[in-house]
Amino acid sequence: MSWTSDNIDPLDDTTALVTGPDSGIGYQVTKALAEHGATVIMAAKTEQQGQEARNDLETKIETPDLSVIECDLGDLESIETATTNVHEQTDTLDILCNNAGVMALPYQETADGFEYQMGVNHLGHFALTLQLLPLLTAGEQQSRVITQSSGMHERGQIDPTDLMPEEYDRWQAYANSKLANILFAYELDRKAKTHDRDLVSVATHPGYADTNLQYRGPKQDGNRIKTAIMRIMGYLFAQSPAAGALPMLYAATETGIDGRTYWGPDGLMNMRGSPEQQQSSDQSYDTVLAQDLWEQSEQLTGCSFTESLP
Ligand SMILES: NC(=O)c1ccc[n+]([C@@H]2O[C@H](COP(=O)([O-])OP(=O)(O)OC[C@H]3O[C@@H](n4cnc5c(N)ncnc54)[C@H](OP(=O)(O)O)[C@@H]3O)[C@@H](O)[C@H]2O)c1
Repeated sequence: MSWTSDNIDPLDDTTALVTGPDSGIGYQVTKALAEHGATVIMAAKTEQQGQEARNDLETKIETPDLSVIECDLGDLESIETATTNVHEQTDTLDILCNNAGVMALPYQETADGFEYQMGVNHLGHFALTLQLLPLLTAGEQQSRVITQSSGMHERGQIDPTDLMPEEYDRWQAYANSKLANILFAYELDRKAKTHDRDLVSVATHPGYADTNLQYRGPKQDGNRIKTAIMRIMGYLFAQSPAAGALPMLYAATETGIDGRTYWGPDGLMNMRGSPEQQQSSDQSYDTVLAQDLWEQSEQLTGCSFTESLP
Protein backbone atom coordinates (compact mmCIF):
# COMPACT_ATOMS: atom_id res chain seq x y z
CA MET A 1 0.00 0.00 0.00
CA SER A 2 1.39 3.38 -0.87
CA TRP A 3 2.08 5.89 1.88
CA THR A 4 0.93 9.51 1.53
CA SER A 5 1.03 12.53 3.80
CA ASP A 6 -2.57 11.67 4.78
CA ASN A 7 -1.07 8.83 6.83
CA ILE A 8 0.69 11.27 9.18
CA ASP A 9 -0.67 11.09 12.73
CA PRO A 10 -1.59 14.33 14.55
CA LEU A 11 1.52 16.33 15.42
CA ASP A 12 0.16 18.52 18.22
CA ASP A 13 2.89 19.31 20.77
CA THR A 14 5.53 18.70 18.10
CA THR A 15 7.98 21.40 17.08
CA ALA A 16 9.86 21.05 13.81
CA LEU A 17 12.42 23.12 11.96
CA VAL A 18 12.74 22.87 8.17
CA THR A 19 15.54 24.37 6.08
CA GLY A 20 14.70 25.54 2.56
CA PRO A 21 11.00 25.87 3.45
CA ASP A 22 10.15 28.35 0.69
CA SER A 23 10.68 26.14 -2.33
CA GLY A 24 10.22 22.65 -3.75
CA ILE A 25 10.45 19.79 -1.27
CA GLY A 26 11.01 21.94 1.83
CA TYR A 27 7.82 23.89 1.12
CA GLN A 28 5.87 20.63 0.88
CA VAL A 29 7.45 19.20 4.03
CA THR A 30 6.57 22.41 5.91
CA LYS A 31 3.01 22.33 4.57
CA ALA A 32 2.35 18.70 5.51
CA LEU A 33 3.85 19.05 9.01
CA ALA A 34 1.81 22.22 9.66
CA GLU A 35 -1.37 20.66 8.26
CA HIS A 36 -1.03 17.91 10.85
CA GLY A 37 -0.68 20.35 13.73
CA ALA A 38 3.07 20.76 14.18
CA THR A 39 4.60 24.07 15.12
CA VAL A 40 7.02 24.69 12.25
CA ILE A 41 9.99 27.03 12.28
CA MET A 42 10.78 27.93 8.68
CA ALA A 43 14.54 28.49 8.40
CA ALA A 44 14.82 30.33 5.09
CA LYS A 45 17.85 31.81 3.38
CA THR A 46 16.31 35.29 3.66
CA GLU A 47 13.60 36.62 5.95
CA GLN A 48 11.67 37.92 2.94
CA GLN A 49 11.43 34.62 1.05
CA GLY A 50 10.49 32.85 4.29
CA GLN A 51 7.71 35.37 4.98
CA GLU A 52 6.36 35.08 1.44
CA ALA A 53 6.15 31.29 1.79
CA ARG A 54 4.56 31.65 5.22
CA ASN A 55 1.93 34.09 3.89
CA ASP A 56 1.17 31.68 1.09
CA LEU A 57 0.85 28.69 3.45
CA GLU A 58 -1.43 30.67 5.74
CA THR A 59 -3.94 30.95 2.90
CA LYS A 60 -3.86 27.16 2.40
CA ILE A 61 -3.86 25.72 5.93
CA GLU A 62 -6.41 26.22 8.66
CA THR A 63 -4.76 27.76 11.77
CA PRO A 64 -1.13 26.91 10.94
CA ASP A 65 1.53 27.53 13.58
CA LEU A 66 4.41 28.88 11.51
CA SER A 67 7.29 31.22 12.21
CA VAL A 68 10.20 32.35 10.07
CA ILE A 69 13.86 32.76 10.89
CA GLU A 70 16.53 33.88 8.48
CA CYS A 71 19.27 31.28 8.15
CA ASP A 72 21.77 31.48 5.32
CA LEU A 73 23.50 28.11 5.40
CA GLY A 74 26.37 29.62 3.45
CA ASP A 75 27.26 31.91 6.34
CA LEU A 76 28.28 30.61 9.79
CA GLU A 77 27.43 33.96 11.40
CA SER A 78 23.90 33.82 9.99
CA ILE A 79 23.52 30.25 11.30
CA GLU A 80 24.62 31.33 14.76
CA THR A 81 22.16 34.23 14.79
CA ALA A 82 19.41 31.91 13.57
CA THR A 83 20.02 29.27 16.22
CA THR A 84 20.14 31.95 18.94
CA ASN A 85 16.68 33.03 17.75
CA VAL A 86 15.41 29.43 17.78
CA HIS A 87 16.67 28.99 21.36
CA GLU A 88 14.67 32.12 22.30
CA GLN A 89 11.53 30.78 20.59
CA THR A 90 11.34 27.25 21.91
CA ASP A 91 12.61 24.96 24.69
CA THR A 92 12.54 21.79 22.61
CA LEU A 93 12.85 20.69 19.02
CA ASP A 94 11.35 17.33 18.04
CA ILE A 95 12.05 17.22 14.31
CA LEU A 96 14.89 18.81 12.35
CA CYS A 97 14.61 18.55 8.57
CA ASN A 98 17.98 19.36 7.03
CA ASN A 99 16.53 19.80 3.57
CA ALA A 100 17.94 22.89 1.84
CA GLY A 101 20.44 22.40 -0.93
CA VAL A 102 22.03 23.56 -4.13
CA MET A 103 23.16 21.47 -7.08
CA ALA A 104 25.89 21.75 -9.70
CA LEU A 105 26.42 25.50 -9.45
CA PRO A 106 29.32 27.28 -11.15
CA TYR A 107 32.22 27.65 -8.69
CA GLN A 108 31.51 30.02 -5.83
CA GLU A 109 32.29 30.25 -2.15
CA THR A 110 30.30 30.73 1.01
CA ALA A 111 30.85 33.76 3.27
CA ASP A 112 33.44 31.66 5.14
CA GLY A 113 35.35 30.68 2.01
CA PHE A 114 34.03 27.12 1.64
CA GLU A 115 33.23 25.70 -1.79
CA TYR A 116 29.52 26.53 -1.95
CA GLN A 117 27.93 23.08 -2.40
CA MET A 118 29.92 21.40 0.40
CA GLY A 119 29.57 24.60 2.42
CA VAL A 120 25.77 24.86 2.20
CA ASN A 121 24.67 21.25 1.78
CA HIS A 122 26.93 19.71 4.41
CA LEU A 123 28.88 22.21 6.56
CA GLY A 124 25.95 24.60 6.99
CA HIS A 125 23.66 21.81 8.16
CA PHE A 126 26.44 20.39 10.33
CA ALA A 127 26.79 23.70 12.18
CA LEU A 128 23.03 24.20 12.40
CA THR A 129 22.41 20.74 13.84
CA LEU A 130 25.17 20.96 16.45
CA GLN A 131 23.92 24.36 17.61
CA LEU A 132 20.39 22.96 17.92
CA LEU A 133 21.50 19.82 19.82
CA PRO A 134 20.52 21.20 23.26
CA LEU A 135 16.94 21.64 21.99
CA LEU A 136 16.91 18.30 20.19
CA THR A 137 17.90 16.50 23.36
CA ALA A 138 15.68 18.50 25.77
CA GLY A 139 12.22 17.05 25.07
CA GLU A 140 10.48 14.07 26.62
CA GLN A 141 9.80 12.43 23.29
CA GLN A 142 12.41 11.04 20.95
CA SER A 143 13.76 13.62 18.51
CA ARG A 144 14.50 13.02 14.85
CA VAL A 145 17.07 14.57 12.56
CA ILE A 146 16.43 13.90 8.87
CA THR A 147 19.09 14.93 6.41
CA GLN A 148 18.22 15.13 2.72
CA SER A 149 20.71 13.40 0.46
CA SER A 150 20.39 12.26 -3.16
CA GLY A 151 20.89 9.15 -5.26
CA MET A 152 23.90 11.10 -6.56
CA HIS A 153 25.69 10.36 -3.28
CA GLU A 154 26.70 7.05 -4.85
CA ARG A 155 29.15 8.97 -7.09
CA GLY A 156 30.63 10.79 -4.10
CA GLN A 157 34.33 10.45 -3.24
CA ILE A 158 35.34 12.09 -0.01
CA ASP A 159 38.86 12.74 1.15
CA PRO A 160 38.40 14.35 4.58
CA THR A 161 41.89 15.86 4.38
CA ASP A 162 40.88 17.61 1.18
CA LEU A 163 37.13 18.12 1.52
CA MET A 164 36.96 20.82 -1.12
CA PRO A 165 39.54 19.98 -3.83
CA GLU A 166 40.93 22.91 -5.79
CA GLU A 167 40.07 21.29 -9.10
CA TYR A 168 36.33 21.92 -9.31
CA ASP A 169 33.88 19.61 -11.02
CA ARG A 170 30.39 20.87 -10.20
CA TRP A 171 28.68 17.45 -10.37
CA GLN A 172 31.42 15.74 -8.38
CA ALA A 173 31.18 18.48 -5.75
CA TYR A 174 27.42 17.93 -5.51
CA ALA A 175 27.85 14.15 -5.21
CA ASN A 176 30.51 14.63 -2.53
CA SER A 177 28.26 16.95 -0.52
CA LYS A 178 25.41 14.42 -0.72
CA LEU A 179 27.68 11.59 0.45
CA ALA A 180 28.75 13.89 3.31
CA ASN A 181 25.04 14.32 4.20
CA ILE A 182 24.66 10.55 4.76
CA LEU A 183 27.99 10.10 6.56
CA PHE A 184 26.94 12.95 8.85
CA ALA A 185 23.45 11.53 9.43
CA TYR A 186 24.79 8.10 10.41
CA GLU A 187 27.62 9.47 12.57
CA LEU A 188 25.22 11.78 14.42
CA ASP A 189 23.09 8.75 15.25
CA ARG A 190 26.13 6.81 16.50
CA LYS A 191 27.24 9.74 18.66
CA ALA A 192 23.75 10.26 20.12
CA LYS A 193 23.56 6.56 21.06
CA THR A 194 27.06 6.62 22.58
CA HIS A 195 26.02 9.58 24.74
CA ASP A 196 22.72 7.95 25.65
CA ARG A 197 20.53 10.57 23.94
CA ASP A 198 17.09 9.68 22.57
CA LEU A 199 17.80 11.13 19.14
CA VAL A 200 17.37 9.23 15.88
CA SER A 201 19.25 10.46 12.84
CA VAL A 202 18.51 9.19 9.33
CA ALA A 203 19.06 10.17 5.71
CA THR A 204 16.52 10.42 2.91
CA HIS A 205 16.38 11.19 -0.79
CA PRO A 206 13.41 12.41 -2.81
CA GLY A 207 14.02 10.54 -6.06
CA TYR A 208 13.57 12.96 -8.96
CA ALA A 209 11.23 15.86 -8.21
CA ASP A 210 10.54 18.85 -10.41
CA THR A 211 11.76 21.78 -8.30
CA ASN A 212 13.98 24.84 -8.71
CA LEU A 213 17.06 22.75 -7.89
CA GLN A 214 17.75 21.74 -11.48
CA TYR A 215 17.48 25.27 -12.89
CA ARG A 216 19.74 27.29 -10.63
CA GLY A 217 23.02 26.10 -12.19
CA PRO A 218 21.99 26.68 -15.82
CA LYS A 219 20.41 30.03 -14.87
CA GLN A 220 23.58 31.22 -13.15
CA ASP A 221 25.50 30.20 -16.27
CA GLY A 222 22.98 32.17 -18.35
CA ASN A 223 22.49 28.97 -20.38
CA ARG A 224 18.94 29.07 -21.73
CA ILE A 225 19.25 25.86 -23.70
CA LYS A 226 20.33 23.86 -20.65
CA THR A 227 17.54 25.49 -18.62
CA ALA A 228 15.01 24.47 -21.29
CA ILE A 229 16.37 20.89 -21.43
CA MET A 230 16.10 20.64 -17.64
CA ARG A 231 12.52 21.89 -17.80
CA ILE A 232 11.54 19.33 -20.42
CA MET A 233 13.25 16.52 -18.48
CA GLY A 234 11.43 17.62 -15.33
CA TYR A 235 8.11 17.77 -17.12
CA LEU A 236 8.56 14.33 -18.67
CA PHE A 237 10.22 12.31 -15.91
CA ALA A 238 10.04 13.99 -12.52
CA GLN A 239 7.42 13.54 -9.84
CA SER A 240 5.80 16.47 -8.07
CA PRO A 241 7.57 18.24 -5.17
CA ALA A 242 4.78 16.94 -2.88
CA ALA A 243 5.65 13.35 -3.87
CA GLY A 244 9.37 14.13 -3.46
CA ALA A 245 8.66 15.27 0.11
CA LEU A 246 7.26 11.89 1.18
CA PRO A 247 10.49 10.07 2.20
CA MET A 248 11.47 12.98 4.47
CA LEU A 249 7.94 13.17 5.93
CA TYR A 250 7.85 9.41 6.44
CA ALA A 251 11.20 9.37 8.24
CA ALA A 252 10.19 12.39 10.34
CA THR A 253 6.81 11.14 11.50
CA GLU A 254 6.37 7.36 11.28
CA THR A 255 6.85 5.30 14.42
CA GLY A 256 9.62 2.72 14.67
CA ILE A 257 12.19 4.40 12.42
CA ASP A 258 15.67 3.12 13.26
CA GLY A 259 18.66 5.42 13.21
CA ARG A 260 21.29 5.14 10.49
CA THR A 261 18.69 4.20 7.87
CA TYR A 262 18.14 5.62 4.41
CA TRP A 263 14.72 6.24 2.88
CA GLY A 264 13.66 6.94 -0.69
CA PRO A 265 10.94 6.25 -3.26
CA ASP A 266 10.29 2.61 -4.18
CA GLY A 267 9.35 3.05 -7.86
CA LEU A 268 11.19 3.07 -11.18
CA MET A 269 14.95 3.47 -10.54
CA ASN A 270 14.01 4.89 -7.13
CA MET A 271 13.07 8.14 -8.87
CA ARG A 272 9.41 8.12 -7.82
CA GLY A 273 6.97 6.24 -5.64
CA SER A 274 6.19 5.52 -2.04
CA PRO A 275 8.82 5.75 0.73
CA GLU A 276 10.75 2.61 1.56
CA GLN A 277 13.98 1.80 3.37
CA GLN A 278 16.93 1.51 1.01
CA GLN A 279 20.61 0.68 1.02
CA SER A 280 22.97 3.63 0.68
CA SER A 281 26.41 3.28 -0.94
CA ASP A 282 29.12 1.12 0.69
CA GLN A 283 31.18 4.24 1.44
CA SER A 284 28.34 5.81 3.37
CA TYR A 285 28.62 3.03 6.00
CA ASP A 286 32.39 3.56 6.45
CA THR A 287 32.67 4.52 10.13
CA VAL A 288 36.30 5.64 9.88
CA LEU A 289 35.49 7.95 6.99
CA ALA A 290 32.45 9.29 8.89
CA GLN A 291 34.55 10.04 11.97
CA ASP A 292 37.29 11.73 9.90
CA LEU A 293 34.68 13.84 8.11
CA TRP A 294 33.13 14.74 11.46
CA GLU A 295 36.45 15.92 12.89
CA GLN A 296 37.21 17.94 9.78
CA SER A 297 33.70 19.48 9.88
CA GLU A 298 34.16 20.42 13.53
CA GLN A 299 37.44 22.15 12.69
CA LEU A 300 35.99 24.03 9.73
CA THR A 301 32.82 25.20 11.48
CA GLY A 302 34.19 25.63 14.99
CA CYS A 303 31.27 23.55 16.34
CA SER A 304 31.86 20.60 18.64
CA PHE A 305 29.46 17.74 19.40
CA THR A 306 30.54 17.22 22.99
CA GLU A 307 30.56 20.95 23.78
CA SER A 308 27.08 21.28 22.24
CA LEU A 309 25.56 18.59 24.45
CA PRO A 310 23.80 19.97 27.51
N1 LIG B 1 14.56 17.80 -6.69
C1 LIG B 1 15.20 16.65 -6.83
O1 LIG B 1 14.98 15.88 -7.78
C2 LIG B 1 16.22 16.25 -5.81
C3 LIG B 1 16.90 15.04 -6.01
C4 LIG B 1 17.82 14.62 -5.06
C5 LIG B 1 18.04 15.39 -3.92
N2 LIG B 1 17.38 16.58 -3.77
C6 LIG B 1 17.65 17.36 -2.55
O2 LIG B 1 16.45 17.87 -2.01
C7 LIG B 1 16.71 19.08 -1.27
C8 LIG B 1 15.67 20.12 -1.60
O3 LIG B 1 15.84 20.54 -2.94
P1 LIG B 1 14.63 20.94 -3.88
O4 LIG B 1 14.61 19.96 -4.97
O5 LIG B 1 13.42 21.22 -3.11
O6 LIG B 1 15.24 22.30 -4.50
P2 LIG B 1 14.78 23.82 -4.43
O7 LIG B 1 13.36 23.95 -4.84
O8 LIG B 1 15.80 24.58 -5.18
O9 LIG B 1 14.89 24.14 -2.87
C9 LIG B 1 16.14 24.27 -2.25
C10 LIG B 1 15.99 25.15 -1.04
O10 LIG B 1 17.28 25.31 -0.44
C11 LIG B 1 17.46 26.68 -0.20
N3 LIG B 1 18.85 27.13 -0.14
C12 LIG B 1 19.75 27.20 -1.14
N4 LIG B 1 20.89 27.79 -0.70
C13 LIG B 1 20.68 28.10 0.60
C14 LIG B 1 21.44 28.75 1.59
N5 LIG B 1 22.67 29.24 1.33
N6 LIG B 1 20.92 28.91 2.82
C15 LIG B 1 19.68 28.47 3.09
N7 LIG B 1 18.89 27.87 2.20
C16 LIG B 1 19.39 27.69 0.96
C17 LIG B 1 16.76 27.33 -1.36
O11 LIG B 1 16.60 28.72 -1.12
P3 LIG B 1 16.70 29.71 -2.39
O12 LIG B 1 15.36 29.60 -3.01
O13 LIG B 1 16.99 31.03 -1.82
O14 LIG B 1 17.81 29.23 -3.25
C18 LIG B 1 15.48 26.55 -1.38
O15 LIG B 1 14.59 26.99 -0.39
C19 LIG B 1 18.15 19.45 -1.58
O16 LIG B 1 18.98 19.08 -0.51
C20 LIG B 1 18.50 18.60 -2.81
O17 LIG B 1 19.87 18.28 -2.89
C21 LIG B 1 16.46 17.01 -4.68
